Amino acid sequence: MTSIRSIKGTQDILPGQSQRWQALETTIRNIMDTYGYSEIRTPAFERTELFSRGVGTETDIVSKEMYSWTDQGGENLTLKPELTAPVVRSFIQHNLGGQSPMNKLYYIDALFRRERPQKGRYRQFHQFGIEAFGSEHPEIDAEVIALAMTVFNNIGLEGLTLKLNSIGSPECRSDYRNALRDFLKPHFSDLSETSQKRFENNPLRILDTKVPHEIEILKDAPQISDSWTAEDKTHFEEVCSFLDEMGIQYSIEPNLVRGLDYYTRTTFEITSTALGAQNAICGGGRYDGLVEMLGGKPTPGIGFAAGMERILLALGNVETNSKTTQVYIVGLGDAVRPTVVKLAEDLRHNNIRTQLDVLRRSMKAQMRDANKSSATIAVIIGDKELKSGLAEIKDLKTGDQEPVKIKGLVDHINSLTL
Ligand code: HAM
Repeated sequence: MTSIRSIKGTQDILPGQSQRWQALETTIRNIMDTYGYSEIRTPAFERTELFSRGVGTETDIVSKEMYSWTDQGGENLTLKPELTAPVVRSFIQHNLGGQSPMNKLYYIDALFRRERPQKGRYRQFHQFGIEAFGSEHPEIDAEVIALAMTVFNNIGLEGLTLKLNSIGSPECRSDYRNALRDFLKPHFSDLSETSQKRFENNPLRILDTKVPHEIEILKDAPQISDSWTAEDKTHFEEVCSFLDEMGIQYSIEPNLVRGLDYYTRTTFEITSTALGAQNAICGGGRYDGLVEMLGGKPTPGIGFAAGMERILLALGNVETNSKTTQVYIVGLGDAVRPTVVKLAEDLRHNNIRTQLDVLRRSMKAQMRDANKSSATIAVIIGDKELKSGLAEIKDLKTGDQEPVKIKGLVDHINSLTL
């Protein structure tokens, strides 16, 4: 019979890799604590409407990439492709804004997008991210960006570029949309099919193009900063000055619009030279209209999300070793089994990392396994030891062996430095 394999674009995280994930998650959680962010966990699936309204029907995510279905009760549901909309939904539903003027939330979670799989791009992937609700002021923009950089610097990611832009307030964007359409109109027939479609619905996304001759055309295009309101300009300048103050380097990218519809003002992306085509480690920005758009009281918000697989890829795929055993129990013969099973349990209850052979292997095979493990000592109990009441403790580094009373083994092992 053929075996069943995992779905394309999904990955198993196996022992050896899972330790790297745990280490990354621990660093993230510690840094979140330092910055005063609390964890939020939301369901794996939501109503499809949350994403079509929140992220935007014209976006790639909603128009092409969602795993959606109608369930037995006739509800249209979707596996979450991103977390900003679910977190906003939860923020509104539980009236978090009514309980505190500032809410700083973080998540580490699995997401689903039906994209074409390639290195760094998967159909199930993981993000850590934050969403901060309540402040429209640039100090929170700077804090959100600083937090992302702190995580990346802390884990030793190198070759990062922080790309920064402001896409202004909604008024500014409608001005700019018109200016951009006017500019692109004479070039319309030279545009790719995708860009021609975007021309009507979402011309700003044309700025995202990777097509060389479109990039060439766009060189002379009007810039969004030309349409900024005076407040947009001040906001952006203040974000920049706070980043300068903190010594965070950035590059201003007038064409950075991001692929989700909810953004206002600050947008940013962090890319890594250690990755290939999928080089965005992290993306985020401000979304001052989203809470209201999803039915809440007008509340400004800003956040980012970073791809965990991409971070680990950029760090280099070094396998870490899961060998953390301290004591290896070698048991020989049917009669000793109850004694060694109980001994292993007692040692574990004393927080001693213990392995017990459960394959009923020969002495030689068990000793080979003990030596391969990271155990410091092996406890050997066979019929002879059971009879004499003395186990043999073998130092696996020096090979020295000493007899120790079976009854006092836990206390004895507890007194050793393992
Ligand atoms: P996003 O740019 O769609 O933003 O995703 C953020 C990050 O998730 C990307 O920079 C990338 O590292 C990772 N990522 C996205 N798609 C995949 C994939 N198919 N495979 C592997 N990694 C992927 C958002 O999701 C926004 N919700 C971010 C945000 C939060 N904005 C404000 N708050």
